[in-house]
Order: sequence, then C-alpha cells, then structure tokens
Amino acid sequence: MLTRTQIRALVDEHGRDIIDHEHMRIERGCYQHGSVTTFAHSIRVACLAVWLADRLRLWRRVDARSLVRAALLHDYFLYDWHDWDDGEHRLHGFTHGGTALRNAMRDFRLNHVERDSIRCHMFPMTPKPPTYVEGWLVTMSDKLSATRETVSLSRFDNPRLMGGRMPRAERRG
Ligand SMILES: [Fe+2]
Ligand SMILES: [Fe+2]
Repeated sequence: MLTRTQIRALVDEHGRDIIDHEHMRIERGCYQHGSVTTFAHSIRVACLAVWLADRLRLWRRVDARSLVRAALLHDYFLYDWHDWDDGEHRLHGFTHGGTALRNAMRDFRLNHVERDSIRCHMFPMTPKPPTYVEGWLVTMSDKLSATRETVSLSRFDNPRLMGGRMPRAERRG
C-alpha cells in the first residue's frame, strides 16, 4: 500500500510539467470551494484518485500517469467561476469539463484516457459517463474532495467571503 508521501511523489513524477506550467498560476489565484484554490483542489483530487486506485487494488487496470494527469487537469478551465456568467453560475457545472479539455489540449499532449476523463468528470450532472476506470476514479475523487472542501470550517477563512457574501453550500466544481 502506498503511503501519503509515496502518493504525492507519484503525482509530482507524472504531473510535474502540469504543476509547473505558467497557466497553473491562474488556478492558484482562483477559489474553488470555500478557501481552497482550484490548484489545491486539483492536487487533492490527484492524490485521492491515486489513493483510491491503490486501496481498491486497481493497478492492473489503471495507468497511473493518465490518472494523475487527468485529475490534475480536470478543472483546467482557467477562470474564477464565481465571476463567470454574471455570478449566476448556472452553466459552469455543465460546461467547464469541455472548457478544461480545450485548454488542456492546447497546453499539453493528452492521450484518449486523459481526454475522456477530463471531459466526463462532471457525470452525472453531464450526461456522458466516463469511459475508463481512470475517469471514474477522477469523478469519484472530485466529488469526495468537493464535499469535504465545501463543508470544511476553514472555508470561512476565504477573504472573498468576508465582504458580506454568505458562504455557499452548493457544489460547482
Ligand atoms: Fe473538481
Ligand atoms: Fe469540475
């Protein structure tokens, strides 16, 4: 079984160019859920997806590199969704998988497992389920991470929420 340190090392090994890419600066400045940035959320999803693959003993069916890269790029939409569509946020949940995929294909070479996993990660909000085990792991890890991030008390540290805006409970990531 992999330790936390080994899992983080795997994410660094397979995703180093993504983590270091200049556009990740945008993710570091955008809050995803509560006080968690999109960048931190993506790292968490990647680590959790590797943890799940390991604990469920899926390594004979899962490509670690594709899993890590899809997880790191699943929310690569590169804008702050709180400011998008005039703050209504109605469409973001449905469209950002496609936006993330377009941005990711522009900046990186992706295989078909990575592309499908990014495009379908919002299932069942979007109709098409992931085709590959890697995609299901990304989708499950994303939902687990988002739930924890949304209910965590640390979200009240977000300076965006100090200007009179009430914390939102809904899930958009
Ligand atoms: Fe996400
Ligand atoms: Fe997402």
